[in-house]
Amino acid sequence: MADSKVALTTGANSGIGLATVLELARRGFRSVGSVRGEAKAEAVAKAAADAGVQVETVLLDVTDPEGCAEVVDRLRPAVVVNNAGYSATGAIEDVDDEEARQAFETMVLAPMRMARLALPHMRQGGGGRIVNVSSIYGIATTPLTGWYQACKHALEALSDALRAEAAGSGVKVVLVEPGGFRTGIWEEAEREVQRRAGSRYEPGYRRILTGTRLAQPVMGEPAQVARVIGRAATARLPRARYLVGYDAQALAVVQRLTPTAVKDRVSRLVLGL
Ligand SMILES: NC(=O)c1ccc[n+]([C@@H]2O[C@H](COP(=O)([O-])OP(=O)(O)OC[C@H]3O[C@@H](n4cnc5c(N)ncnc54)[C@H](OP(=O)(O)O)[C@@H]3O)[C@@H](O)[C@H]2O)c1
Repeated sequence: MADSKVALTTGANSGIGLATVLELARRGFRSVGSVRGEAKAEAVAKAAADAGVQVETVLLDVTDPEGCAEVVDRLRPAVVVNNAGYSATGAIEDVDDEEARQAFETMVLAPMRMARLALPHMRQGGGGRIVNVSSIYGIATTPLTGWYQACKHALEALSDALRAEAAGSGVKVVLVEPGGFRTGIWEEAEREVQRRAGSRYEPGYRRILTGTRLAQPVMGEPAQVARVIGRAATARLPRARYLVGYDAQALAVVQRLTPTAVKDRVSRLVLGL
């Protein structure tokens, strides 16, 4: 049976995941975050101590199926926040099968595996909550991060299917769709672009990096997303999706109202493609 007090967040040592484990602890959960190393566990412990809350950590790479099963069966969480992810920047022509597979393993297969493992415990406990951290790029699309967007679009589709499948068991499935927030994901994007030196798409990558560097000072703090995740995890009647940030809300409208030919022309112009 799921333990109604346990909330498990994946990728908890940084950015939105770190803010989320703190937020869920403040909301009274036994908040547990997954990390990929002892030093990262220590970083979480320090952040929790600074915030005056208690957070536990478990060692887990979400692409390890046995590790996921061990963690979920041991903790039997009533709330699972599937947050672990990374930027997966790259033109389709630059990303090989292995890189694409890794992105899907981390941001699509892993969240669904965690849900599949947690569901029987949640059902036994009379209900539960699965919060999947998607992105505005689960709705909108732009060039040069196609695999990231494919992962988030897949996560959206799977979450929609799961929401109806799990509803009869009292399990609510919620998508959180942030715009741009100041986290480690942008440093990861810089490293990915460095690895693609010499690509014919390099000028486009440079423009993306310039854009994100300029945008970072005005980006929101991850705590803002964490508060929305906290609400999604506790509201009696949570919404199916929460767009977080003015940029996400604006982009969602642009995506709906702008003809594809216009969007293509603008993104080619902006990225020099
Ligand atoms: N920041 C934004 O603007 C933004 C916008 C929309 C959506 N999101 C989504 O928010 C989520 C969190 O990202 P963030 O912005 O907070 O980035 P972040 O600061 O880089 O944090 C990402 C976290 O995911 C973990 N992670 C990555 N791959 C993992 C794996 N295979 N197993 C376990 N943990 C793994 C990282 O662990 P390591 O430190 O060990 O790598 C890290 O803890 C992602 O799903 C991202 O797509 C972010």
